[in-house]
Amino acid sequence: MDSTLHLDSFAKDLTCSRCNSYYPLDSLHYFSSCCEKPLIVNYSVDHSFERGQLVGRENSMWRYSEMLPLADEKNKVSLGEGMTPIVSINRYAQKYGFERLFVKDEGLNPTGSFKSRGLSMAVSKAKEFGVTECVIPTAGNAGGAMGAYCAAAGMKATVIMPGHTPKPFQDECRLFGAELMLVDGLIDRCGEIASSIQNETGAFNMSTLKEPYRLEGKKTMGYEIAEQMNWELPDVIVYPTGGGTGLIGIWKAFKEMISLGWIAGTSLPRMVVVQSLNCSPMVHFVNGNETHESYGESKANGLAVPKAFGKDLIKKVVVDSNGSAIAVSEESILRTAKELSRSEGISFSPEGGATMAGLLELVALGDISKNEKILLINTGNASKYMDHFL
Ligand SMILES: Cc1ncc(COP(=O)(O)O)c(C=O)c1O
Ligand SMILES: [Zn+2]
Repeated sequence: MDSTLHLDSFAKDLTCSRCNSYYPLDSLHYFSSCCEKPLIVNYSVDHSFERGQLVGRENSMWRYSEMLPLADEKNKVSLGEGMTPIVSINRYAQKYGFERLFVKDEGLNPTGSFKSRGLSMAVSKAKEFGVTECVIPTAGNAGGAMGAYCAAAGMKATVIMPGHTPKPFQDECRLFGAELMLVDGLIDRCGEIASSIQNETGAFNMSTLKEPYRLEGKKTMGYEIAEQMNWELPDVIVYPTGGGTGLIGIWKAFKEMISLGWIAGTSLPRMVVVQSLNCSPMVHFVNGNETHESYGESKANGLAVPKAFGKDLIKKVVVDSNGSAIAVSEESILRTAKELSRSEGISFSPEGGATMAGLLELVALGDISKNEKILLINTGNASKYMDHFL
């Protein structure tokens, strides 16, 4: 339990991610009306807030509550998300010759994926604004997470999911009492339906980066990476990218920690985007060859996002961090997730497997060297994907 007295949230306002126009913090927002781009929460950093004050705080992402946009603690909807372990991948690393290879195991979150973080934050914020009904388009994990947090908050949840999503993802939503709609198509089609439900019912639409609060929850991965690695960041972070919230959030956390004086700005990690060859719009966009290909399904369903609303922000993170973007085959995603799980005893989702598959390709290309300090993000565990593995 939390033994220290938290300061109030330092959240100050919101700004448009393209033109910096100002939006007030005290009303519920979606994306910017000026440029139709994601909104970003800004903080007035108080330098008397020192990283040492974190010691002894609650073992969840809410230990960073000054840097989260919730005004009143009583609106917090938490199931213990965050503070997932960073584990060293020993046997696999030895086999492939890596010297310092780690994984942040987000599969240990309450709903089995890192989506718990964003939905804990967004549902808390919705509660603070008196929302009673939420809707979300999802590739799978975010829907289950919204179902869980809406259940905890006593809110109605409607989840829109591609019909081909494995059954455990669907069952999880029903378990938490959410209304589930299955759709013929990918997450972009689900997004269109979620918008019409929002218009018809007034439900709060939690579509990725079309509201500013999930990003704030996801960014806590960045704070944890710094704190758990004793404030010495890795050289490279490999992230399986769909809508990009986690990638953008981790980078945002690094920038905030520089302004807090918690880390030096001199050597931030190179941020690596990994996608599936079946659906790799961000890899094309980042590498400067945007195509008009239509993109398809992936067994790593979280990566099957044909049109990322935050694509400019994703590209900026990769460029600013001197990182890279790579697409890997479906076969290598599943094979690597399975090999890693067997080798380490850590339950790797296909998305988690994709990070290692991408890393091996970037090493072969000479972009990453085996003696660097490398962190993979295993964004979820394998349990909901079991049919792909057996
Ligand atoms: C397990 C998993 N990994 C990665 C992603 C992609 O996440 P992001 O939107 O942060 O790129 C998702 C999204 O559905 C997911 O469920
Ligand atoms: Zn704007």
